[in-house]
Amino acid sequence: ATQALRDRLGRPLTDLRISVTDRCNFRCGYCMPRAVYGPGHRFLPQPDLLSFEEITRTARLFVSLGVTKLRITGGEPLMRRDLPELIRQLAALRTPDDERPELAMTTNGALLAPHAQALHDAGLQRVTVSLDALAPATFRAMSDSDIAVERVLEGIATAQAVGLAPVKVNMVVQKGLNDDQILPMVEHFRGTGIELRFIEFMDVGHTNGWNLDKVLPSQAVQDLIARHHPLRELPAERPEDTARRVALSDGSGTVGFVSSVTQAFCGDCSRLRLSTDGKLYTCLFASQGHDLRSLLRDATPDADILARLAALWGARSDRYSALRHANTPSVASRVEMSYIGG
Ligand code: GTP
Ligand code: 5AD
Ligand code: SF4
Ligand code: SF4
Repeated sequence: ATQALRDRLGRPLTDLRISVTDRCNFRCGYCMPRAVYGPGHRFLPQPDLLSFEEITRTARLFVSLGVTKLRITGGEPLMRRDLPELIRQLAALRTPDDERPELAMTTNGALLAPHAQALHDAGLQRVTVSLDALAPATFRAMSDSDIAVERVLEGIATAQAVGLAPVKVNMVVQKGLNDDQILPMVEHFRGTGIELRFIEFMDVGHTNGWNLDKVLPSQAVQDLIARHHPLRELPAERPEDTARRVALSDGSGTVGFVSSVTQAFCGDCSRLRLSTDGKLYTCLFASQGHDLRSLLRDATPDADILARLAALWGARSDRYSALRHANTPSVASRVEMSYIGG
């Protein structure tokens, strides 16, 4: 097996999260509030975006360095034209052990139903769909769009039907906004084979009005569910996983908790992020990226880029969530999530 690169805290580089667009057809208040991302907001101009060839070359170099998991994110990745073509290119990559890297996507699901089959045919293996509520009024308030929740549910069903499985559903919980949806969501998804995951509202970027009072700790979510369904803790599948998982004891399903605020998981963080315009971020909360695009467009040989990538990971010591309470950096310096990719 390949020896993955290690950072200064001994963490291996195994996951690359690739943002393919900074645009989205939703305006979730915790991510792209309309007051900031309104008609006057300037998205990246086309020439700034990495091309599919540039993304694939980057991914190929990282896979040669030990990355085994690729995740497509945004913004909303399905807003990027011809996405299946990128998937086809990425699906052709092989690790040094001649394995296919895992290839997944995180999407809001609104455009998933019409594209699921083509994505699967192109080689996408699974999807995670963001869904914060089933009740139409709550869904509309959270996503701040006219797209009906049924379209997302149809996207989830289609993804599962075409084999983009196991499908996961991410629900960002905000106290007082959608916490009344926790139990309906559990009831809706148990027995379907779809894993529902509760995400603590995080203080990413500086436009989402985050404060600790709006965070419902995962333990409170778990206690609520446990009053209706006995739960059993599951062992972690991989140390670098974001979610802690529990099973409903009646065998009807599993739920996960991504608790970056109350139980930070930086200790095993193996994730590097590639922004839409080709900057590398060693942490979701990093204030600055490392420009890769100019190297890609300068006819830099693979060997030189590989050396830069290895040095970048080798110098990494980020563990923002773990330090959040001790030492919160200036909020103005944090990067926005729709640009870097969640
Ligand atoms: P799986 O492969 O299914 O385990 O996906 P994932 O949990 O790695 O990715 P997903 O895109 O579903 O992200 C789930 C939630 O975790 C989202 O809210 C992400 O923003 C958050 N998240 C993912 N990676 C990190 C990370 O490295 N740090 C922090 N703080 N949050 C993360
Ligand atoms: N806190 C927690 N999760 C967030 N996401 C976007 N913004 C935030 C935030 N501030 C989630 C999305 C998606 C995933 C990539 O990140 O809902 O599921
Ligand atoms: Fe769009 Fe996802 Fe951000 Fe919501 S969380 S605005 S769906 S990118
Ligand atoms: Fe990794 Fe940074 Fe998230 Fe910690 S806060 S888990 S170091 S991306």
